[in-house]
Amino acid sequence: MSIISKDISQAVAILNNEELVAIPTETVYGLAGNIYSEKAITSIFETKRRPLFNPLIVHIPNLEYMESVVRYIPQKARLLAETFWPGSLTLVLPKKNNIPDVITAGKDTVAVRVPNHPVTLALLKQLNFPLAAPSANPFNRISPTKAEHVASYFEGEIQMVLDGGSCKNGIESTIVGFEGDEPVIYRLGSIALETIEEVVGKVKVKNKKEASPNAPGMLNKHYAPRTLTVLSNDIYSDIERYLNKKIGVLSFSTSYKNDFIKSQITLSENGNLAEATSNLYNALHKLDTQNLDVIIAEIFPNIGLGKSINDRLLRAASR
Ligand code: TXA
Ligand code: MG
Repeated sequence: MSIISKDISQAVAILNNEELVAIPTETVYGLAGNIYSEKAITSIFETKRRPLFNPLIVHIPNLEYMESVVRYIPQKARLLAETFWPGSLTLVLPKKNNIPDVITAGKDTVAVRVPNHPVTLALLKQLNFPLAAPSANPFNRISPTKAEHVASYFEGEIQMVLDGGSCKNGIESTIVGFEGDEPVIYRLGSIALETIEEVVGKVKVKNKKEASPNAPGMLNKHYAPRTLTVLSNDIYSDIERYLNKKIGVLSFSTSYKNDFIKSQITLSENGNLAEATSNLYNALHKLDTQNLDVIIAEIFPNIGLGKSINDRLLRAASR
């Protein structure tokens, strides 16, 4: 029997029992557990094979709940929360003492967000604790955007994937921390940098493992397919480098014609960045199961969500 189910009350029962449920959000699926249960939190780290020094995001049901998790809210943090919650914005703020150290990896700050998915909002309202939830993929693998992706990773290891369909936005939330009272982007994501700046003015970007598209070798591998993945500014000339190989192409809006291309996914035929973002991980999951020798991925225009996509492609690219 499949672990995929739409039964919210079953999810409530499992979570109350200090066990894990994979939950849908508008960004990616999360692997969720009670933030106050040491058993559940330990099990999140073990199931994901995630190192303990990497802290978790706390998912809360509404903006008001933020007061019970964080002890100080800068004005610009409140403004961002009011503008984007429920939604794909994670705020990193000074934590209250009741937040266990395992959640924050011993840091004095906690990451918090209100996800924008009707199923998970309904679930959170039926629980008397928030949910810690990292993306529901094994450490360093591609984040899941469908219940089936999660099941293929964790069937036999978790009891349930709460099915909420395909994740609308398709990449992880944008993470904003604070230096003093000024916002700093810690991770580019589902809400474009420019959209954040429309609300709070110019923002510093300290994206972890940041690098320019010319320097993929600098990056730690992350969000990665198993297939060799290379980034390209010129698909046709990169195909020349892999003649006689089984080539997959991941492109923005262009459909490339070449006999050596065995498989090709175009993320948005109309050149719509939001649509491309929404399809990105599912496309990587698909290409990764086709026994290709190489995935050649087109670098995106470096504006708006294109920046966030380039960040994920860089992390997916092989050294
Ligand atoms: O869209 C998302 O954010 C998804 C869904 C499930 O909500 N979650 C997600 O979680 O992407 P995860 O664990 O894969 O990524 C969370 C990131 C990690 O890179 C972690 O280092 C960072 O958030 N983080 C968590 N707490 C932090 C803190 N106190 N300070 C700095 N970074 C933090
Ligand atoms: Mg993750």
